[in-house]
Amino acid sequence: MQSAPLAGKICIVTGANSGIGKAAATQFAKMGATTIIVCRNEQKGVAAQDEIMSLSGNKSVELMLADLSSLDSVRKLAAGYRQKHDKLHVLVNNAAVVEGRRVVTKDGLEEVFVVNYLSQFLLTNLLLDVLKAASPSRVVNVASSVHAHIDFDDLQMEKRYNAIKSYGQSKLAQILFTQELAERLSGSGLTVNCIHPGAVRTHLGDEGGLVGIGIRLLRPFYLSPEKGAETLVYVATSPEVKEITGKYFYKRKVKPAPFNKEESTRLWNISMKLSGLGN
Ligand SMILES: NC(=O)c1ccc[n+]([C@@H]2O[C@H](COP(=O)([O-])OP(=O)(O)OC[C@H]3O[C@@H](n4cnc5c(N)ncnc54)[C@H](OP(=O)(O)O)[C@@H]3O)[C@@H](O)[C@H]2O)c1
Repeated sequence: MQSAPLAGKICIVTGANSGIGKAAATQFAKMGATTIIVCRNEQKGVAAQDEIMSLSGNKSVELMLADLSSLDSVRKLAAGYRQKHDKLHVLVNNAAVVEGRRVVTKDGLEEVFVVNYLSQFLLTNLLLDVLKAASPSRVVNVASSVHAHIDFDDLQMEKRYNAIKSYGQSKLAQILFTQELAERLSGSGLTVNCIHPGAVRTHLGDEGGLVGIGIRLLRPFYLSPEKGAETLVYVATSPEVKEITGKYFYKRKVKPAPFNKEESTRLWNISMKLSGLGN
């Protein structure tokens, strides 16, 4: 194992059986962290756990199974974590999907909105006390430069759905969530930032219909997952950013992002209701 700046620390990465999440989890494990990978598919999860342990030489890699399209599964994930651990140093909300057609979850919500945003809102809020207990601690939300408009009149896209609109809305929701949560946590020692990884060669878009075909055609020109994880790992671990919160990073630098206080508060209030956290 290389030098161990994260020895004694615990990091969770969602969607860590492939792509950017697996590359980031491998880096955390190499840095000595107890690394918890959250995956929905047991077979893929076990394969990733074995690979991360072997690449990092760190045996402290745990697999937790959760389907992040189900709010009940997110609640069970948070409860399961809290049963075993009383501290969490880094939470990386990374899992995401692109869907070519509108899929409704068992909670009656649009799937991309839930996996890419609402599950992260719920999971983060349910883990806030263990994150604060590990202060200084960090939440990193893996967003995207493809962050579009939020349609508050049709948040679940019942009237009009398309893959780019739903993905872009979910990614802007993450950015607004980052801003709102950072403000609410001001002075707590827990920072919240989001990142754009760049265009990265992963499985994202495999279910994306026509959009997915476009993504696949361009893949040879994209970054490797390891390169794509660099900004994420930097924001999650570097002492250089320990005081920075509520920001959007790309290529390890803070970049302008469409932060909007009115929209972030509105989205927070809606998300409290939809996630069952509040009225
Ligand atoms: N690739 C890019 O160019 C790019 C650009 C900008 C932003 N991003 C962002 O980077 C992040 C990582 O994506 P990636 O590119 O590495 O794609 P990826 O290889 O497809 O990884 C996505 C991960 O999310 C998991 N996931 C999807 N639905 C889930 C669910 N319901 N429950 C639990 N896990 C679920 C996937 O698991 P399965 O294997 O089981 O499907 C997979 O592990 C995403 O937030 C994405 O929006 C990527």
